[in-house]
Amino acid sequence: MIISGAASQALAAALARELEEPLARAEYDRFPDGELLATVPDLADSDGIGDTDRAIIVASTVSSDAHLELLQLQDAAREAGVSEVVTVLPYMGYARQDKAFEAGHPISARTVARAISSTTDRVLTVTPHEEAVCEFFEPTATAVDAADRLAEPLPDNLVDPVFLSPDAGAIDLAETVRDAYGDGAGETDYFEKVRHSGTEVEITPSDVDVAGRDVVVADDIIATGSTMSEAVGVLQERGVGRVFVTCVHPLLASNAVTKLSQAGVEAIYGTDTIERQQSAVSVAPSIAAHF
Ligand code: R5P
Repeated sequence: MIISGAASQALAAALARELEEPLARAEYDRFPDGELLATVPDLADSDGIGDTDRAIIVASTVSSDAHLELLQLQDAAREAGVSEVVTVLPYMGYARQDKAFEAGHPISARTVARAISSTTDRVLTVTPHEEAVCEFFEPTATAVDAADRLAEPLPDNLVDPVFLSPDAGAIDLAETVRDAYGDGAGETDYFEKVRHSGTEVEITPSDVDVAGRDVVVADDIIATGSTMSEAVGVLQERGVGRVFVTCVHPLLASNAVTKLSQAGVEAIYGTDTIERQQSAVSVAPSIAAHF
């Protein structure tokens, strides 16, 4: 059966359809003192859900509550005697805290990975910020690459397109989107990025000529939108055509959508690893390919 965390219900349903497996009904409650209780009544109902040899729990850990809820769903599955518990983290929260950046800091990604590993047999996570976070899980998590899905919502009339990444680390992603968009047609390049704080980034333009051309800027995550809005601002100064921004994980925290709109983006696209209005394409087929 497929079991969903509260924040991943649409993706869990899409995965259930892809895998032709039953979708369980989970319930998400909160006690008056604030404690959470996530339950899966269908685990107790052998008539309703059928074979429970394997439970696939799909839960993006987009908040502390979502983390806790995932641990509860895993435990409920084990408690019900499910023999294989598979955890799918469409978006792994805390993955960007993958080092102790200063003395006295924790390695938060490792901490949450250890907790999640304690009650699961297998972990899959979609396009992690750094694939090395997979090694924090025991056994090592599988990274599901969903970058090619980002080509799907793009308009099919892009003019002489350029596919850019906002930093060198995401160039593979931009190349994957370019390849998936049109058999390798279109140029790719990247900006140089220096991050000064959580919300301040400095973008140095790439050399590619963007005047009059449509540009797709692709990244793994749009969080505060600072990286993307800076990149789009640089493009606007150079007489770009239309600018589309796309990402696997549309976190779009705080005023990110406003920042991007003010920067002049034509559209923001993301996947359903984080369920937002901008989730234009599902990663369910990419995840299903690993079963
Ligand atoms: C960092 O290297 C990531 O790939 C993203 O560029 C970053 O997380 C985006 O964050 P924000 O939207 O807050 O600039």
